[in-house]
Amino acid sequence: MSLLVRNGTLVTMDAQRRVLEADLLVEGGRIQRVGKRLKAPPGTPVLDASGQVVLPGFIHGHLHACQTLFRNRADGLQLLDWLKQRIWPFEAAHDARSLRASADLTFAELIRSGSTAALDMGTVHHTDEVFASARDAGFRLTGGKAMMDAGVGVPAGLREATRRSLDESVALIDRWHGTGGGRLRYAFAPRFVLSCTDDLLSEVVRLTHARGVRIHTHASENPSECAVVRERTGRDNVDHFHKLGLTGPHATFAHCVWLSRKEQRILRETGTVVCHCPSSNLKLASGIARVPELMDAGVHVCLGADGAPCNNNLDMFMEMRLAALLHKPRVGPLAMPPVRVLEMATLEGARALGLQDELGSLEVGKRADLCTVSLAGLHATPNGEDVMGAVVHAAQSSDVRHVVIDGRVVMQDRQLLTLDEQEVRARADAEIRKLLRRLESPRRKTA
Ligand code: GUN
Ligand code: ZN
Repeated sequence: MSLLVRNGTLVTMDAQRRVLEADLLVEGGRIQRVGKRLKAPPGTPVLDASGQVVLPGFIHGHLHACQTLFRNRADGLQLLDWLKQRIWPFEAAHDARSLRASADLTFAELIRSGSTAALDMGTVHHTDEVFASARDAGFRLTGGKAMMDAGVGVPAGLREATRRSLDESVALIDRWHGTGGGRLRYAFAPRFVLSCTDDLLSEVVRLTHARGVRIHTHASENPSECAVVRERTGRDNVDHFHKLGLTGPHATFAHCVWLSRKEQRILRETGTVVCHCPSSNLKLASGIARVPELMDAGVHVCLGADGAPCNNNLDMFMEMRLAALLHKPRVGPLAMPPVRVLEMATLEGARALGLQDELGSLEVGKRADLCTVSLAGLHATPNGEDVMGAVVHAAQSSDVRHVVIDGRVVMQDRQLLTLDEQEVRARADAEIRKLLRRLESPRRKTA
């Protein structure tokens, strides 16, 4: 599949972080050339990026596609109440159709806002639907079923036996890992310390190494959660995961808001990737992660929207703007320069997927995942010299014009090409209504 992206301003995110006026030629899903006035073979499709910025596609390092259907139905709660009163009962009421509707809505929203890849945590059941949705949308997904073999307040419909949780995860690896031309990959998703036995976590570590996949979990998000973890295990979250072998460059931990010095050292020394989710941390009143300090210390930190019910959008422009602004009052105006924020949304996101050699920058040899952004809107005018600053501080997701994943155009001139926006919206509305009826039905089976 070849493609010429012509006349754009390329924010390459290469080693020198160069910004170039150049064309970009794609061949076989990879970037083949970057340069001025490139010639393409006759018949090569052309994307006109005149007057637009071309960026590596944004990568969410933490997401729950299964929760998008619950948007606007779980406000005003802190983490553990939010999970027990809303999110877990909602997830337990999912069937295959509602999960597919949730995932389709997710990938439509992500593509429309310039995101091309994500690390996703599913719910306990029906995870095939999330992979099938990403496959059909042309999205790049590393995902996995949530693992929950323990916990207080977990509905019977989500609680699973340890062996079954592991077996289902392995079956999903067999069905999906490496499919979709390599776009779809697996990551074990033990939900968080409070939903997992030590036996499950230890076996996840063994299987992660045996199968060459990743681990994706939540850690140290909320003070009450941290207190219960300490009470149950005698250790802090990251420390507990470390003792059981979950830390390392193959692991991505969402949040990491409340860390001891020891835990910060563990994250740095093991190369564990942290995902900063600023909207989620504010909305659930979780706290503010010490992101500049973590990054200055050498911890890899990416960005993510988390789930729609704790955000309430899946919009990397919002996360970038918040990540850029949130830390300044505490650390100073230079704490999070635009280049650092863009690194989080691209290069570090690629690392969260273990794909730093394949994604995250516009360089020859990398997979062709990109978006183009118009800076012609009134809200971004007039343009100055600092293109990265304009993207991070002024641009909005509605400024995204074209999106390419693996060399395939999935949005052109704001028109989705792999999903029918109207149909996705109608199905999401219908499926959440049905899910709420299932939830309210007195004959509901939760076991
Ligand atoms: N911790 C455990 N599960 C979840 C979840 O679904 N969302 C968030 N934000 N934190 C969690
Ligand atoms: Zn989450």
